[in-house]
Amino acid sequence: MRVVFLGPPGAGKGTQADAVSKDKKISHISSGNLLREAVESSTETGIKAKCYIEKGLLVPDQLVVEIIKDRIVKEDCKSGYILDGFPRTLSQAKVLDEMLKKLGNKLDLVIYFSVSEESVVLRLSGRRTCANCGANYHIRYVPSSKDGICDKCGGKLYQRADDKPETVLERLRVYHEQTEDLIAYYKKKGILKEISCDADIDAITKEVSDVINCTLQRKPLISRGVARVDSL
Ligand code: AP5
Repeated sequence: MRVVFLGPPGAGKGTQADAVSKDKKISHISSGNLLREAVESSTETGIKAKCYIEKGLLVPDQLVVEIIKDRIVKEDCKSGYILDGFPRTLSQAKVLDEMLKKLGNKLDLVIYFSVSEESVVLRLSGRRTCANCGANYHIRYVPSSKDGICDKCGGKLYQRADDKPETVLERLRVYHEQTEDLIAYYKKKGILKEISCDADIDAITKEVSDVINCTLQRKPLISRGVARVDSL
């Protein structure tokens, strides 16, 4: 199964992608993580991408597309993957369609994580990330057992530079301006499902899992539980 997780910064795409990838045994491809790794290793792409990420702007399409192109042909993507944070512009979406066509594939599903701006600001201001393994925590909603230390690997937790309040607002502005158009694009293709993400993490995981199972079995979805799920 090939699925895209679409939604504003802080909606919980990464959190849900981690859970689903473990449950369904499909790869989680996060464009943000791939870019941050490139920055960390000072690759040519990373050096070019750094200033855009720090300002909360989108990295130029060409750089992101190259990274994704290389990633989706890897062995672990054969049985499917979750694309988290890619595509983020119409032109990225069209390039992805072309890439998949050449590989004889197509997208099965796009999940749109809708969330209030209030939740976004609360979630991102409290997010802490492991400097070693990249695991995400939240000081209130998903605290680590030991303050400032990752439960999974013992690495140090830090606050992402782009999670500072002024950069979060800029990321939201960029999302409305450049990414929101993708909702209509995928709706028109008939593969978009919306999940309302103001609920707690486990309730959303259940809804995401139901949507994926229904798509795999090609069944219509009956909404239930806390999160609202609409077949658009
Ligand atoms: P990226 O890393 O993709 O950032 P983003 O899309 O802004 O998403 P986030 O990682 O901030 O949020 P999320 O939705 O994954 O939320 P999470 O699960 O972590 O991109 C960063 C930058 O890279 C971009 O600004 C851009 O510069 C560049 N970039 C990336 N892709 C690009 C592309 N395609 N094109 C161009 N540039 C690109 O959750 C957030 C917090 O909330 C966590 O602390 C979590 O524990 C908590 N949480 C999650 N769910 C809940 C819940 N239900 N209740 C309470 N807390 C919750």
